[in-house]
Amino acid sequence: MTDWTDGYVTDIDYAYAYCQELNPARAALAFLSKGMAVPDFETACELGFGQGLATNLHAAGSATQWYGTDFMPGQVAFAQDLNRISGADARLFDDSFQEFVHRSDLPDFDFIGLHGVWSWINEDNRDLIVSFLRTRLKPGGIVYMGYNAAAGWSGFAPLRHLMKQFGDTMVAHSQGGVDGIVGAVGFADRFLTANPAFAAANPMIVDRFEKVKTQDPVYLAHEYFCANWHPVYFSDMVGRLGEAKLSFGAPARYLDHLDVLNLTSEQSGFLDQIPDPVFRESTRDMMIARRFRSDYWIKGARTLLPGVLGDRLREQRVVLLRQRSEVSLVVRGGLREVEMQEAVYGPILDALAGQQPVAIGAIEAAVAQNGLTLPQVVQALLVLGGDNHLAPAQPEAVIAEARPKTDALNRHVARMAREGTVIDYLASPVTGGGIRVGRIQQLFLDALLNAGSSPADWVDHVWPILAGQGQKIIQDGKELQTDAENRAALLEQAERFADTQLPVYKALQLV
Ligand SMILES: C[S@@+](CC[C@H](N)C(=O)[O-])C[C@H]1O[C@@H](n2cnc3c(N)ncnc32)[C@H](O)[C@@H]1O
Repeated sequence: MTDWTDGYVTDIDYAYAYCQELNPARAALAFLSKGMAVPDFETACELGFGQGLATNLHAAGSATQWYGTDFMPGQVAFAQDLNRISGADARLFDDSFQEFVHRSDLPDFDFIGLHGVWSWINEDNRDLIVSFLRTRLKPGGIVYMGYNAAAGWSGFAPLRHLMKQFGDTMVAHSQGGVDGIVGAVGFADRFLTANPAFAAANPMIVDRFEKVKTQDPVYLAHEYFCANWHPVYFSDMVGRLGEAKLSFGAPARYLDHLDVLNLTSEQSGFLDQIPDPVFRESTRDMMIARRFRSDYWIKGARTLLPGVLGDRLREQRVVLLRQRSEVSLVVRGGLREVEMQEAVYGPILDALAGQQPVAIGAIEAAVAQNGLTLPQVVQALLVLGGDNHLAPAQPEAVIAEARPKTDALNRHVARMAREGTVIDYLASPVTGGGIRVGRIQQLFLDALLNAGSSPADWVDHVWPILAGQGQKIIQDGKELQTDAENRAALLEQAERFADTQLPVYKALQLV
């Protein structure tokens, strides 16, 4: 390792990950649902952006001026390429946090996000980030923070420590990188097979480790093998971010808003007796053994007057991310699956069925005849948004401004899919963020733009690409062998794509 790393894993590049909670457009609904004001997001910044996928999708998909930094130059070069291609003009640096916070060419920000960073850096870097939030976030500004929560990691922490120590002491330097990770996981596997008293004292880590064994070593490298690995107590985070004048705003994952999905009635009843919101949240983390927190914080929370709040909520638009018939009313929270009431969700989904953005006020008007009120509508939208059936939609003027940038980015990502590099997301100017689209579907979109308009044309375009790369379609767990079999399976997929996904992707302006 070289000396600029501060103990971070720098010999393995981070994956092309995307965190939708970094999209400021999602933050607005989370705050409004709690009755709080949000700023206009003119400037935003991501700290430790990894490959920069989220920064690029959000910069291309919105009218916000994005900034960001990550100290791994290979990742930054990739992020800067995407930025150049989209024309989003985000300012992306390969500065360490130490360098970045001292820049004199940064504006003040309405939104600052960091996902998967805080728990993996040392105290000095956390101090730098707190001071950056204190000085660079505007009053009224929002912070998104995703970090490991202490409540869910207590049993696993010693095992992660052992794996890290194995990597540090037992793996030859020449055999570091991914091989070292695989070696450390293998060691932990053999350790657990020897039935250590540690496993008897922490029975749940055995299941947890079974999952670790199936995970990509690149992901494991960044998750478990940094020198710094600090799951954090919520109350400690309240204290640290309090130094930057931030207070807790709202859970960033919409489904976290709903106790019914995450707690039994006994657990809810217990928590309801705790009046202090921070202590309640700490106890709630223990109640659900939470491992990761995704939160929005705010510098100076302002409660909106009821009339103003109603107006702001009614103006906010949302859009369905799939066809009405494809939306399942069974929602999986942290605790269980709950079937949403057709009487509430049916009319709301009907109001959204045209696949176009609809203002919450218009949904409220459409469902008034069903006896549904604005708070019920907002709660249902959070559930549907939390389960990725819908997303907040931007104003038309912003969509029009973003569209040329998202078109350029999406064409490039589809070209990469053609060449074999898979980025599972395209940018929507409607939602201002990333939409998950698999490689084959991206190739169909590429075919639509470059080869023809029928599913048969798309197969003619896509099959030679896959065949040229030695790839075959897997159907019912079996690899299809002949050209004819592969073409037939692709045609089936293409026809399904034309019927179900393409109309949605067109509405989201991915193509
Ligand atoms: C676990 S990754 C998360 C990446 C990205 N936020 C995501 O969720 O996809 C943490 C990132 O922080 C960056 N990082 C760690 N320490 C840093 C430092 N001191 N200065 C700048 N970047 C740093 C790493 O290079 C890495 O890309």
